[in-house]
Amino acid sequence: MLEAAARLPVDALVEVGKLLRADGRADLIDLGVGVYRNEHGRTDVPGVVKTAERYLVENQSTKAYVAPDGDPEFNARVATMLLGEGARGGSVVCAQAPGGTGALRLAMDLIAHASPGATVHLGVPSWPNHAPMLAAAGLRVEVYDYYDLERNALAFDATIAALQAARRGDVVLLHGCCHNPSGADPERAQWEQIVEIMAARGLVPLVDMAYQGLGEGLDEDAAAIRMIVERLPEALVAASCSKSFSLYRERVGMLLVKTDGDKAAELARSNIQSLARLNYSNPPDHGAAIVRTILGDAEQSRLWREGLDGMRLRIKDVRRRLAGASGGAFDLSFIGKQKGLFALLPIGAEDVEALRRDHGIYMARSGRINLASSRALRTQAW
Ligand SMILES: Cc1ncc(COP(=O)(O)O)c(C=O)c1O
Repeated sequence: MLEAAARLPVDALVEVGKLLRADGRADLIDLGVGVYRNEHGRTDVPGVVKTAERYLVENQSTKAYVAPDGDPEFNARVATMLLGEGARGGSVVCAQAPGGTGALRLAMDLIAHASPGATVHLGVPSWPNHAPMLAAAGLRVEVYDYYDLERNALAFDATIAALQAARRGDVVLLHGCCHNPSGADPERAQWEQIVEIMAARGLVPLVDMAYQGLGEGLDEDAAAIRMIVERLPEALVAASCSKSFSLYRERVGMLLVKTDGDKAAELARSNIQSLARLNYSNPPDHGAAIVRTILGDAEQSRLWREGLDGMRLRIKDVRRRLAGASGGAFDLSFIGKQKGLFALLPIGAEDVEALRRDHGIYMARSGRINLASSRALRTQAW
């Protein structure tokens, strides 16, 4: 049976990683992988994470299952991180999930259950996992141009045109901040326009929030989702704690669903629990317990935010230096205006290949680079 299966597409970045690991040259530069690295090329375990782990070793009294929608305290704390203090009512439902990916898949399953075969509008380029995940969940994908590769800027007119052409009840997948791969986020006035059209046309947002705190700041980066959740009757937000807490392999994320009222919230909660149960039964606890422990302690929270600020400032500094160093025919000034971990270099696949072959510089075929990356450390392969 298994040998007759069609081969599923492999994520292109996994292929890049394989080539990198097989490359025997010294001093390789890895700009491909999507994790934050410090100036020494390492993705360290933050001190606050170690402190929380020590606390958990001493104080955790059981390893019994958590509920299908996870730990209520973790959910409440991450909801506050996303929406701000006091911004929650009975119509918001949360579910801890295995990473941002798990939260996205839960959201897609919920959409597919509520509206079988629903159409999801996806601005491209996007995170390469979005389209195949949507298809795997049984949803129809319609793409539009989100980013203008000629101007190295948001294709705002095309985005607006796509929203205006969408049908009532369609879903729109949006990046909450720090767009991956382009780093081009809408300005506040542009978000206002997006949300206004979505409200007028009855469109449902599915917001991917994987980089909160790495753009302009924890609250600043949440401005768009706060506007969306405040102004639209329904919204789904898939949040990841992988990058902002450096907990990548622990798989920590959360789905937040804003519904149209308490009755819809109760139904959404029940359906989310059932869908989680059918998939992974209940989410992994360890990473979420770390996040809950950090966010539940004022001093540890302060230290965590300080570390997050440090990551953001390093990314901004790299952006500033790259933008400043460019000139002439190769203008990278746009990188200084964009946000988050990634930028799209205006180069073709042959240039990407030549950089790898001739200089040992690795990146995605699209020309996406991780700004917080540097030397490839063989001890920290992904
Ligand atoms: C845009 C985007 N969404 C979701 C994710 C998934 O995050 P996680 O590792 O928490 O599943 C990533 C990870 O790279 C991402 O870039």
